[in-house]
Amino acid sequence: MVQNKNETEKFSPEQMAKIRNSRTSQTSKLKIKTTKHLKQSSMWYQYYQNSTTTRKDVIKDVIFQRLIVAFSLLSLEEMQTVVHEYTTRKKQNSSISLHSLLLDRGKLTKEIVDNLRGLRNIEGKSLIPGYDIVRPLGEGGMAAVYLATRHQDGEEVAIKVFAPPVSDVSTEIARFKQECQLAIKLESEYIVKSYEGGDFQGLYYLAMEYVPGVTLAEKVAEEGALGEKRSLEIFGSVLSGMWEAWNRSIVHRDVKPGNIIVREDGATKICDFGLAKALDSDVEITKTGMIMGTPQFMAPEQFTNPGAVDYRIDVYSLGVTLYVMLTGRLPYLGNSYLELSQSHVQEEPIHPSKFDVKVSRPVVAFFV
Ligand SMILES: Nc1ncnc2c1ncn2[C@@H]1O[C@H](COP(=O)(O)OP(=O)(O)O)[C@@H](O)[C@H]1O
Ligand SMILES: [Mg+2]
Repeated sequence: MVQNKNETEKFSPEQMAKIRNSRTSQTSKLKIKTTKHLKQSSMWYQYYQNSTTTRKDVIKDVIFQRLIVAFSLLSLEEMQTVVHEYTTRKKQNSSISLHSLLLDRGKLTKEIVDNLRGLRNIEGKSLIPGYDIVRPLGEGGMAAVYLATRHQDGEEVAIKVFAPPVSDVSTEIARFKQECQLAIKLESEYIVKSYEGGDFQGLYYLAMEYVPGVTLAEKVAEEGALGEKRSLEIFGSVLSGMWEAWNRSIVHRDVKPGNIIVREDGATKICDFGLAKALDSDVEITKTGMIMGTPQFMAPEQFTNPGAVDYRIDVYSLGVTLYVMLTGRLPYLGNSYLELSQSHVQEEPIHPSKFDVKVSRPVVAFFV
């Protein structure tokens, strides 16, 4: 991958910080409204809603804004004015989207909006050579994922697009490049296959196998506890995938239901090696103060000594994931990173038998 310096240098840190002011950080995932989880009927659902509704379309909007400015369709000041109006209206619970606001204000034509949102230039030519974007598929904390067709063979693929933040760009870009490198190395039917990475207009992408289905997070939010048999099947698949990664000295560091996709035919695949680390490499790309993982799923040592972790943190997170599948709840709830770190270190999880789910003794013994 070649970094296109000219594109990223179009923005000063202050300018882009303003553009990106709606971007959520890892800590926004901690907005859980209550700690009395025994009283709650659907804690997982609540956590899931809190962690997703706030960041819906955030990254896609950032990518869209970046392209508008990169193609000089709006000046930075004009963009900022529209974004300011957009965020104000959002705060007032308006359901307007950024692109419809731009259309309403007569800033862009529908054709241009459609092209940019489909990652095409103004003339309609794809910005990612060799692929045509079909539609968005999902969004995480760091990137947006799109369905695309590959010109070469007409195959459907998923393309993860990462918009590096403006502050400390080099760290973030290095991290995304590392994700591409590590993911491309991995060959397992239980890991989403990655094909190739590249960059365009200061944005970065990774082309992968398309997995039609839902994330395990969405599945549990919709169905509640999955039952022991299905939970153990999914657990077994993820474990097999992780086994392949661990054998190559790769630690995922963010194993959780949101990073596991359950395909329509039931097959299960782990994705998002965005925080992965190669244990046999000395290179650690970390920003000071950055949370390396998702606190609800993090092993005690990931809180206390993040630099010295090994594959056992993935085993722990996989255990939390199993707990979520079996009970439809999180073992620990907290309103802050600190609270969660203390719970993971000091407290026993609530015994699964306290919930209205059937879990056999040998499986319960795994937790308590
Ligand atoms: N290969 C894929 N096929 C289908 N959907 C995908 C694929 N990869 C990711 N997604 C969707 O995109 C979302 C974000 O992807 P992810 O790699 O987890 O990004 P992030 O690093 O931002 O968390 C996932 O939760 C899922 O809904
Ligand atoms: Mg993710």
